[in-house]
Amino acid sequence: MKQLWATKSIDKIMKDTGELNAMKRTLGPVNLTTLGIGAIIGAGIFVLTGNAAAQYAGPAIVLSFVISGFACAMTGLCYAEFASMIPLSGSAYTYAYATLGELIAWIIGWDLILEYLFASSTVAVGWSGYVVSFLKDFGVIVPAYLSNATGTSLLQLPDSGQWVVASAGLVSDLVSKGLNPDVLPHMSAIINLPAVFIIGMLTILLVIGISESANFNNVIVFIKLAVVITLICVGYAYINRENWTPFIPENTGTFGEFGWSGILRGAGVIFFAYIGFDAVSTAAQEAKNPQRDMPIGILGSLAVCTILYILVSLTVTGMVSYKLLAVPDPIAVAVDAAGPGLMWLRPFVKIGAIAGLSSVILVMLLGQPRIFYSMAKDGLLPKSFTKIHPRFKTPFIPTIVTGVIAGIIAGTFSINILGELVSIGTLLAFTIVCLGVLFLRYRRPDIPRAFKTPWVPAVPILGAGFSIMQMLALPGDTWVRLIIWMALGFVIYFLYGKRNSLLRDK
Ligand code: ALA
Repeated sequence: MKQLWATKSIDKIMKDTGELNAMKRTLGPVNLTTLGIGAIIGAGIFVLTGNAAAQYAGPAIVLSFVISGFACAMTGLCYAEFASMIPLSGSAYTYAYATLGELIAWIIGWDLILEYLFASSTVAVGWSGYVVSFLKDFGVIVPAYLSNATGTSLLQLPDSGQWVVASAGLVSDLVSKGLNPDVLPHMSAIINLPAVFIIGMLTILLVIGISESANFNNVIVFIKLAVVITLICVGYAYINRENWTPFIPENTGTFGEFGWSGILRGAGVIFFAYIGFDAVSTAAQEAKNPQRDMPIGILGSLAVCTILYILVSLTVTGMVSYKLLAVPDPIAVAVDAAGPGLMWLRPFVKIGAIAGLSSVILVMLLGQPRIFYSMAKDGLLPKSFTKIHPRFKTPFIPTIVTGVIAGIIAGTFSINILGELVSIGTLLAFTIVCLGVLFLRYRRPDIPRAFKTPWVPAVPILGAGFSIMQMLALPGDTWVRLIIWMALGFVIYFLYGKRNSLLRDK
């Protein structure tokens, strides 16, 4: 029992982390903010916003962004306190091990796999959608059965002979044209090959050791921001107010399908779009002045993204009916709807999305092996995960394991299933972080904190409360998947981790 609550000393963490990171303190507030933006803007805004508007919230997806952004701001403040207590690069896993004990650390570590590994698969599926759409503009058709989740139902259009996803929108469209979709040829998709491809390429890059260059990140962030801001500025003129009416579509009678419950469910889904600001906390060791700059980086990147997300979702749902946005490339669909006047923007949107999504996948694929590495250093995962490649100097085994699993998941599942699972998993981690800050204020007031979360207990309670609310609004299937995942984690901990932990009860 004692072992479950045992904490790891900060000196030991310093030593373990130091082996992997001999880092220089080079990042100032601007670089930390762009680091955050680089990790944040991705498949959430480029893909999931459209799907969540179409299925759950309609134009009121804007309100979902406000709710979710508020919850993230509260959690961001808690993250900043945790990050400043342990002045090292790390993750919520490391913070928990130093303060809350081994069992909570394991729960967070296992849960963070949902955030990092599964998010890299999710964003890879989004990447695939934009690449397929981009190639199509040049006449290169990637067959639908090789670019969709395994088992996705496809049907062949009678006029063009093309195979397309049999979405609800398409089926009702065919019916309205007097066609019977049931008599058209059907088949199931096999694998999402482009998604597997991008995970494979980036994994190879990470094994041979891409240096995380802040300058490279700045270029990608600039491209992403340019595309998003241009879309807002020029798309504004193409807004048709009718698309915003009704702003909150009436609830269908089912919880979560439009109306206020739909806005809440939308918030749980598009929460995915905000994930990544916590990545700023992992760079604490590289920050020149962490006390002052970590909160600026975390809250600054969150503020910029919240404003952009609200404006993008207003613009997109104004340019095209939300009903048409359940596609792999919703932003491109909105631009198409504007007609010939915006044709020039099409390739920019797609290139921006492809470049932007690549950088998010890279950040996620980089973070996961480092968490595995820390867990293995503590004996909770196999020792081989701590081997550093003699030539490339990278933790190559966990990097390859991450890549293989992320690739299989990306090739097999749909973006909506994955995105919702990542959201619920990360919301759980955020809830624990908020409650952890509160708990430690009372239990360990002695630990020095370079940054203190303001308005305690209000901020952590609001952060945890809003996170739980968004979790509760997510579909039941997503809950079942989370429970299975966490149960699997407990089994592994009690069969392996607890017995091999370096803090094992003697
Ligand atoms: N926030 C990141 C994205 O939307 C994970 O892709």
